[in-house]
Amino acid sequence: MGNLTNVCVRNLRIELGANTVIDELDLDVRAGEFVVLLGPSGCGKSTLLHSIAGLVDVTDGSIEIGGEDMTWADPKDRGVALVFQSYALYPTMNVERNLSFALRINGTPKAEIDRRVKRAAEMLQLGPLLSRKPAQLSGGQRQRVAIGRALVREADVFLFDEPLSNLDAKLRTELRRELKQLHQQLGATMIYVTHDQVEAMTLATRMAVMKGGAIQQFGTPAEVYARPENLFVATFLGAPPMNLLQGRLEAAEGRLRFRGQGVDVDVSAYAFKGTPDPTRACVLGVRPEDVHVGAVRPDEAAWEGRLTLVEPMGNHRVVWVEYHGAQIASIDQGKTPLAREAGVPFSFDGAHVSLFDEETGARI
Ligand SMILES: Nc1ncnc2c1ncn2[C@@H]1O[C@H](COP(=O)(O)OP(=O)(O)OP(=O)(O)O)[C@@H](O)[C@H]1O
Ligand SMILES: [Mg+2]
Repeated sequence: MGNLTNVCVRNLRIELGANTVIDELDLDVRAGEFVVLLGPSGCGKSTLLHSIAGLVDVTDGSIEIGGEDMTWADPKDRGVALVFQSYALYPTMNVERNLSFALRINGTPKAEIDRRVKRAAEMLQLGPLLSRKPAQLSGGQRQRVAIGRALVREADVFLFDEPLSNLDAKLRTELRRELKQLHQQLGATMIYVTHDQVEAMTLATRMAVMKGGAIQQFGTPAEVYARPENLFVATFLGAPPMNLLQGRLEAAEGRLRFRGQGVDVDVSAYAFKGTPDPTRACVLGVRPEDVHVGAVRPDEAAWEGRLTLVEPMGNHRVVWVEYHGAQIASIDQGKTPLAREAGVPFSFDGAHVSLFDEETGARI
């Protein structure tokens, strides 16, 4: 089975009708990776995935799978298996026949079919359900069968298009864990589309954040979360998203400071990508978990805002503080008691922020 199959998309352009849906897109998926394509509705995730499967014609560029040019190859010759959001099971066939259908069609020997169906059923805990029809299964079980149908094909590359989005929250998280374990067992290359950031963060070895048919950033979930390349990525990830403050950089007494919206913080220790240009307006971003409310940290810059809302979440809480017109979110463990409508101190470390050019939105 294809443990060594990479996928390489080069300069891809896809036009559908009058729309350019994908434009000059490059994507390198290494063999054995679990790459997640994450982005808002309509950003081109499915189109990109389907082009790799061979279900969408490309206008320009190339798609290589396992080092072979597959840009114009027939879907069945690409060594890929695709799992859709809708399970698309055959309603009149039982689970076993659904699983074996594609293999029976292409004349796989009976013993081989039995071996593969048995293996997929074991991996996905479908053993007791083999004689049931789809109507007699829960949503989660149906989606397992749909995944099983892809598994029996023993493809080199598995493609998933929002396979969990029809399931309720609890089933989603269960099946998410199973998918991750399945990937670890198989070691196969997987490309997975979702607009759910939690799925992306938990499943991906690397994730591509997409917007408007282009990849905004491609990296490990930790990298993308900690060092977003632009304002779109910064605010797309995180719940609540990164806090943003508008202002300017100013050099003072040999230090570099960010000043704006009532905040004045030393950002000299920030890892600038290049030489910062103090003439340009910029945006400071700080993750809610890096904002400390109540008991401020002595080594951090601190201000006083007005507590407007506390949202208890069980294992943490979100605290909202109004300060110079901004609603600043802080996430903590809820250990410090806070009085509502009271003045409340908050602090953060100028080294643990992100800075963006206000006009271009790019990380600086
Ligand atoms: N056949 C088509 N003709 C013209 N435009 C299309 C066609 N199919 C899709 N599009 C457009 O291409 C864009 C990308 O669609 P795509 O289905 O890839 O988005 P997506 O990221 O998968 O969205 P979602 O999260 O809603 O599934 C959308 O703006 C959509 O309207
Ligand atoms: Mg889609």
